[in-house]
Amino acid sequence: MKEIKVWDRSTRIFHWINFTAIVALLVVGFLMLYKRELGISSIEAKIGLKQLHVVIGYLFAANLLWRIVGFFTGGYYSRWRQVFPGKGFRQRLKHYLKAEKAGKKQDYAGHNPAGQLAVAVMFCLLLMMMVTGLVRAGTDIYYPPFGGFVTEYIAVEGVEPESLKPYDKTGVDVEKQAALKSFKKPFGLIHLYSAYVLMFIIFLHIFAVVYAEIAKQRGIISAMFSGSKYFEGEPVDKPER
Ligand code: HEM
Repeated sequence: MKEIKVWDRSTRIFHWINFTAIVALLVVGFLMLYKRELGISSIEAKIGLKQLHVVIGYLFAANLLWRIVGFFTGGYYSRWRQVFPGKGFRQRLKHYLKAEKAGKKQDYAGHNPAGQLAVAVMFCLLLMMMVTGLVRAGTDIYYPPFGGFVTEYIAVEGVEPESLKPYDKTGVDVEKQAALKSFKKPFGLIHLYSAYVLMFIIFLHIFAVVYAEIAKQRGIISAMFSGSKYFEGEPVDKPER
């Protein structure tokens, strides 16, 4: 068996921080969403949950941005060309699906074309969650990077923007606050619906990986810990020389 180092260390660390952060964000996010049903009614608890969600969100965002750097600096299989569908993708997908249908064994070191598609959708969703989450962190609890602009905009003239407190109307211009409410609403909706779609895709991702591990290619799950996969022959997507 030939060993191929597929996932570099940075990609593996990203993957597990990303997974942990998303699970934590989903748990706290749904606590926020169903707070009334769960008997959480105090404003302090509501703000506290949001602050916790946002702090985990910063870890998630920093990790995601680090992975984007890795698309350009990482190992061969971590580069964006191997991760996202690019030139000749349709052809590769067709070829892959045809071979699958015919029951032909195809070993990929990195992502197979169907996997590439799923990963691309996941990254787009993660970016969308990050951007909409950061906007809502600014508009709801005045947290960075946008909170400073928000308080400056809604503070009544003569009031120090830094003195404004979330969910407290003291020193806030009522008209501007109403405008802010309409502005932030679509960001909240996109954030929420993306979370539902993301949950569905994560479920598919886990199902596909477990199925592939059992039915097709042993060792793909352990490769996200060790970095290595083992092949009898050459993988379909070996590095071009
Ligand atoms: C994959 C990552 C994320 C997931 C799965 C997630 C999930 C959720 C969920 C389920 C909600 C509840 C929606 C609601 O109450 O309407 C929520 C709300 C929120 N999230 Fe996230 N989130 C993520 C990333 C982030 C990030 C990166 C930030 C900011 C740093 C953030 C900030 C917020 C804020 C401020 C809210 C409250 C919005 C509102 O009250 O409508 N989220 N999130």
